[in-house]
Amino acid sequence: MIKTNIRAFNKNKDMEGAVRCFNEGFEHILWPSIRHAKPSFHEYLVKFFYKMSTDCFVAEVDGEICGIIFGAAPLKIKGLINAILFYLLYIIPKGLVNGYGMNWLAYRHFFQLIYGYLPFFFLHPNRWPMCEVELFTSINKYRSRGLGRSLMDKFVDTVHARGYEGTSVCTDTALSYRFYEAYGFELEKSFVQRSYKYSIPDKSFTALIYYLKIHQ
Ligand SMILES: CC(C)(COP(=O)(O)OP(=O)(O)OC[C@H]1O[C@@H](n2cnc3c(N)ncnc32)[C@H](O)[C@@H]1OP(=O)(O)O)[C@@H](O)C(=O)NCCC(=O)NCCS
Repeated sequence: MIKTNIRAFNKNKDMEGAVRCFNEGFEHILWPSIRHAKPSFHEYLVKFFYKMSTDCFVAEVDGEICGIIFGAAPLKIKGLINAILFYLLYIIPKGLVNGYGMNWLAYRHFFQLIYGYLPFFFLHPNRWPMCEVELFTSINKYRSRGLGRSLMDKFVDTVHARGYEGTSVCTDTALSYRFYEAYGFELEKSFVQRSYKYSIPDKSFTALIYYLKIHQ
């Protein structure tokens, strides 16, 4: 168990650390756009999740940001619309005119990601108000030392304190989905995950939606 300081995410000061956690946690699925696009692209992706979230926390070790959790407790229509508009009117158009300086691989990967993640929006179990873990990742050197559990505890405590029954999370078998099972989440839905055609070719993955019931 590592001693971490869990505190609120500060958008002005912590964005660089958050993008680092994002890139390290998702390197294996996002490497085409990490290597072949401007770093600002992933900063926009982190901002997209931030816009959807109501509660964002970082884990710090010796002043270094080692992990982040962004969550919605609950998901608000205004935050959702804000994030979707940011994606549709800013991130995608900038990608279409190649404002991120992507090569052909990164470009195809970008649109494959959108195609592969879309079913999460349509197949998500309908529960309202809905609490959701939006973004959860850490840097490699602090894995498996309890940091993820501390971050999740912080978000779950927030959901609990507001009186909600539980939280869901969207993930897949290319990610650290077993964390959720170890934590007590239960699988609600699964379907084919098509996002990684260019980053992990020749392998198939399953998209997963988990739910954690919180006892009030
Ligand atoms: C998810 C993540 C933040 C977890 O952080 P972590 O600090 O490694 O997790 P912890 O050390 O607190 O582990 C908590 C429990 O989950 C289990 N666990 C964590 N990751 C696991 C994995 N990949 N496979 C199996 N079990 C895992 C641990 O064994 C531990 O179980 P225990 O408490 O019963 O011993 C981290 O693995 C990560 O950044 N992964 C890459 C990004 C990612 O996939 N995020 C999830 C996307 S939805």
